[in-house]
Amino acid sequence: MFRETAKHRYRVVLLSIAFLGMAWNCRESAGAMNSNKKIKQEIDKMVSKMTLEEKISMVHANTLFTTAAIERLDIPGLCMSDGPHGVREEQKPDDFSPTGLSTDASTYLPTLTALAATWNPDMSYCFGKVLGSEARARGKDVILGPAINIMRTPLCGRNFEYMGEDPYLTSKMVVPYIKGVQENDVAACVKHFALNNQEYKRHSADVQCSERALREIYLPGFKAAVQEGGVLTLMAAYNLFRGQHCCQNEYLLNEILKKEWGFSGAVISDWGGVYNTKEAALNGMDIEMGTKVPNGVRNDFENYFLAKPFLNEIRQGALPESVLDDKVKRILYVMHKINMFDKNRKPGAFNTPDHQKTALDVAQEAIVLLKNDKGLLPIAADVKSIAVIGENAAMEQAHGGGSSNIKAKYEITPLEALQKKLNGRVTLNVAQGYSFQDDASVQKLIDEAVEAAKKSDIVIVFGGLNHQFETEGRDRKDMKLPYHQDKLIRAVAEANPKTIVVLICGSPVEVYQWVDAVGAVVQGWYAGMEAGTAMVNVLFGDVNPSGKLPFTFPVRLEDSPVDVYGDYLGDNEGNIVEYREDILVGYRYYDTKKVAPQFCFGHGLSYTQFEYDKLKISPAQIKAGRQTVVSLEVKNVGNSFGAEVVQLYINAPESSVIRPEKELKGFAKVFLKPGQKNTVRFVIDESHLSFYDESKKQWTAENGIFNVLIGSSSRDIRLKGGLEFNDKTAK
Ligand code: BGC
Repeated sequence: MFRETAKHRYRVVLLSIAFLGMAWNCRESAGAMNSNKKIKQEIDKMVSKMTLEEKISMVHANTLFTTAAIERLDIPGLCMSDGPHGVREEQKPDDFSPTGLSTDASTYLPTLTALAATWNPDMSYCFGKVLGSEARARGKDVILGPAINIMRTPLCGRNFEYMGEDPYLTSKMVVPYIKGVQENDVAACVKHFALNNQEYKRHSADVQCSERALREIYLPGFKAAVQEGGVLTLMAAYNLFRGQHCCQNEYLLNEILKKEWGFSGAVISDWGGVYNTKEAALNGMDIEMGTKVPNGVRNDFENYFLAKPFLNEIRQGALPESVLDDKVKRILYVMHKINMFDKNRKPGAFNTPDHQKTALDVAQEAIVLLKNDKGLLPIAADVKSIAVIGENAAMEQAHGGGSSNIKAKYEITPLEALQKKLNGRVTLNVAQGYSFQDDASVQKLIDEAVEAAKKSDIVIVFGGLNHQFETEGRDRKDMKLPYHQDKLIRAVAEANPKTIVVLICGSPVEVYQWVDAVGAVVQGWYAGMEAGTAMVNVLFGDVNPSGKLPFTFPVRLEDSPVDVYGDYLGDNEGNIVEYREDILVGYRYYDTKKVAPQFCFGHGLSYTQFEYDKLKISPAQIKAGRQTVVSLEVKNVGNSFGAEVVQLYINAPESSVIRPEKELKGFAKVFLKPGQKNTVRFVIDESHLSFYDESKKQWTAENGIFNVLIGSSSRDIRLKGGLEFNDKTAK
């Protein structure tokens, strides 16, 4: 018997479950519906045979990365692994230390900022396929990626794991990643839902943001993952949103994710992110994973909130069994979708040459040429000597950064790749330049670097950050290059102006102190196991750079919106972090408030040049439910094969609410031979012109003129046209 006070709640929950079932059905096409119907019948049959205890065993961890199997019914447990840019090495069942296997070194793919910098959804699909295939070969059912929290502040320690500052770019890149993973009979797990935009106080920060910012900036990537990518699992975040932890957040999980978006998969908690049995049970958490329980006993899995305490609440009638059944059904649905009950489930593959080639392809397309004023790049074939400066030249990056760290099968550093390519033909004058460990010998290291620069034709400084700075659990304190690199680069560039700086990092850094003094700057990211090969191919022109920044490099940290509006730390009462910049995140802020960035969103140069021409918008007037086609011609007018990312931004000059100066609403990567041209087409409709109207609680396009801006970056706009949205007169 249920207690009287709880009755109403149960009805709401039961109705919600029925509603979720309906939403589930509505989304499917007829064919898929039949197969889903069969799956659901099968699931109902399975659930009817299960005891209460067996069902409970499915909704919480039984080791650090698994849930229990029910052998009596041939139901396997779920086996999970991090993510998001490779399959993590095996961990002990109850603590995060490695088991020390010799067989779990995997393909280390570029991190997700690098993937986003390709602006190429095909690359994202190939990336997902590699990850899914490797996860499967390692016996995993769920890979804990993609990670897509929006870069709100340059300082977030996990920016490198995410896809940058723009919700549209993120949405377009996340979908093919998920499809690639799930084609391999492995579930992707999009994370961290939602508003986990900083690492500082990640367990206690209580995010307050407007509904508009939530809908326009922070949710679109997740929505696309669910509705377009068909993601099967989702990880709820550590932080709180509007006073409630995300792992038990009624609004985010039940209202938005499950009801509004019709998510039919399973919600997984971030490790240790659940705090209360009732809230987690009722508010949409399906599987509790973690590392500890409140009484302080590590990995006492049986006492997790969704283990014995949940069982007891059901037994006592304080929670209805139907809530548990819904969770179990969702988990079984995921299992069916990834063919866990099928003998012919795909086997996957591990460390194949194809996978390594994908790592290289992504890295090559990700590299961004930020500056090349003096034509220093590509490096001339007749170069006789190169000074190679900086610890990052020889630094492996895979094994760092927190849960995303990878035990890589191998990792080619830039120095190794240079040695391999130049094979003794060119003298390499190598100098450490700066030290990650030793702060005492700064001047000595700078002097050695200056000596190397003086006696070389050109200089390459490999600078940037590493995972001591960019890591889970911690944010950076500032945007400066550490280890006195500013001083080093200034000294080296003075000794030899033919200096190229390569930045290895996944977040913006301040470069204003030396950027005018050097010839070229290249953004190299944490670009995976083939990072060195990719970089050397770009530096020598075997590959023409085609990456574009997925986020802005402000000149200084003080220019960034979070710094200007001043709420980031959450050191206020109640740990509240108020997103006062609202929708003005990244370039939306810099452009609207006319703050010149160092390198703008979407920026990236090429060794060739592209001309834009013949913009056509037809029809030039649309109404709701109608589309228009924006077309233009791009021509490679330089001398080398190259790729251009054509970007479409919308500007809404006549609006009743504040709109960002421009918003990305389309992009296309075009590969062109010298002299070749191509027509690029974008289909635009009401959705691209809309903002989230808080009063109507829906996306709205207002009648009026919109500017269509076509650019090579967000600030290099090459063509402009007008489009009228008129719901009354347009055809
Ligand atoms: C991270 C997740 C990760 C999980 C398991 C957490 O600390 O936030 O991204 O998947 O650990 O390693």
